[in-house]
Amino acid sequence: MTAQEPLAIGGTTVRNRLYRAPVLEGAGDGEAAADRYARQFVENARHGVGLIIQGSSCIFPEGRTSPGMTCVDTRVKTMRLAPMVDAVHAEGASIFLQLGHGGLYSMEAWHEPYASDRTSPLLAASPLPWYLKPMYAGNDVHVLTTDEVREMANRYGDIASWAREAGYDGIQLGSANAKLLDQFLSPFYNRRDDEFGGSFEGRARVLRLIREAVAERAGADFPCTVKAPAEVAPPGFPRSTVEEALELCRLVQEWGYDAVTPVEVSVFPDTTLSRGGIPDSLWKNPGMATRLRAAAPRRGRRALLKAGSWWGGRTAPFEPVWNRSLFRRASALVDIPVFAVGGIRTKAEVDQILRDDEADMVGIGRPFYAEPDLAAKILDGEPGPLRCRNSNRCVPAQMLGMKGACYNPDVRKT
Ligand SMILES: Cc1cc2nc3c(=O)[nH]c(=O)nc-3n(C[C@H](O)[C@H](O)[C@H](O)COP(=O)(O)O)c2cc1C
Repeated sequence: MTAQEPLAIGGTTVRNRLYRAPVLEGAGDGEAAADRYARQFVENARHGVGLIIQGSSCIFPEGRTSPGMTCVDTRVKTMRLAPMVDAVHAEGASIFLQLGHGGLYSMEAWHEPYASDRTSPLLAASPLPWYLKPMYAGNDVHVLTTDEVREMANRYGDIASWAREAGYDGIQLGSANAKLLDQFLSPFYNRRDDEFGGSFEGRARVLRLIREAVAERAGADFPCTVKAPAEVAPPGFPRSTVEEALELCRLVQEWGYDAVTPVEVSVFPDTTLSRGGIPDSLWKNPGMATRLRAAAPRRGRRALLKAGSWWGGRTAPFEPVWNRSLFRRASALVDIPVFAVGGIRTKAEVDQILRDDEADMVGIGRPFYAEPDLAAKILDGEPGPLRCRNSNRCVPAQMLGMKGACYNPDVRKT
């Protein structure tokens, strides 16, 4: 197949095989949110991208992972985004909303002003294992009861119905990158002994419930897609394996999901998600340094955040198409569309993945910050020199609530 061919995903058809992977825009959820998203997305759509997956939006009023993240915990907030969705459609592209929750990594856990103002405990799949306890000293953690997990699944269904009303073409679950749903999937976090724990299928069962709730409340034809993580963990610690990620791809197909994105990530929310440089701009960019001091006034906490980002950069260097072996195996296993993502940069890579049936849709994330017209270059065959250097300076920026953009001064000069 070629990048120009349309693709049916559940009840919708996307005009071509190139998608903008979910990255955050720092748009918040106020009156200006739609305009902020539109500034990026409409231009991407005008230049031909097939599908935009909007970065993770939170299902509860608390549980965002960064201050600029959007909450879609009410119908009003979700409907506010409708003008942007219409504008994207007017340019011919489709748009999915990614839904999620930070769980133990919600900013109420680490961002001082939000931690001191929070009104409810951090949500968790299980009591903290011994190896996480030191990180959460003084934090109130609530383990979701069996009924609350069921309620959470219904909440995904309700928000999917609002998303449909707002015009979105589908949703994706933010079920990787150590977020709350991944904390259910992963044995690193999940020690439950009810129906949502125990065996691998038990840990994954929450996804089955969510699929059912989305079908019931938003319609069975409303596309519902999901990420399937294979994890890396420190030696000797439990994790979701590659074989489990592939089994999850098979299960989600059986449960009625319309597409799956397999990704290899850490059990921690680090830059295994977006491999590349060490985001040292945490302390070099004055805007970021000021925000970091506000988020972590205590020197020890600041040092921990800096050390974490340094370690992430050291242990997860950039590698072209780093999820290839995973998405290729998933494609051979399931019939639903498989989405590729992770370090895909060139037209040659995009064309080869599609030609060899290694995936059905090809996603690119960070480069869209630096090149809003990237889709035209890839689809029309005139890519020019790559601008994104994978420096990951965009990561601390979005963590601290700045707008989604390229913060690499060398790229900005070119
Ligand atoms: C600043 C930033 C924010 C991201 N936000 C999300 C997100 O909200 N949800 C998600 O599933 N992935 C998120 N990702 C991961 C990207 O979707 C993508 O998988 C990753 O950047 C690798 O693709 P790339 O090499 O083309 O950038 C984010 C990545 C970055 C750099």
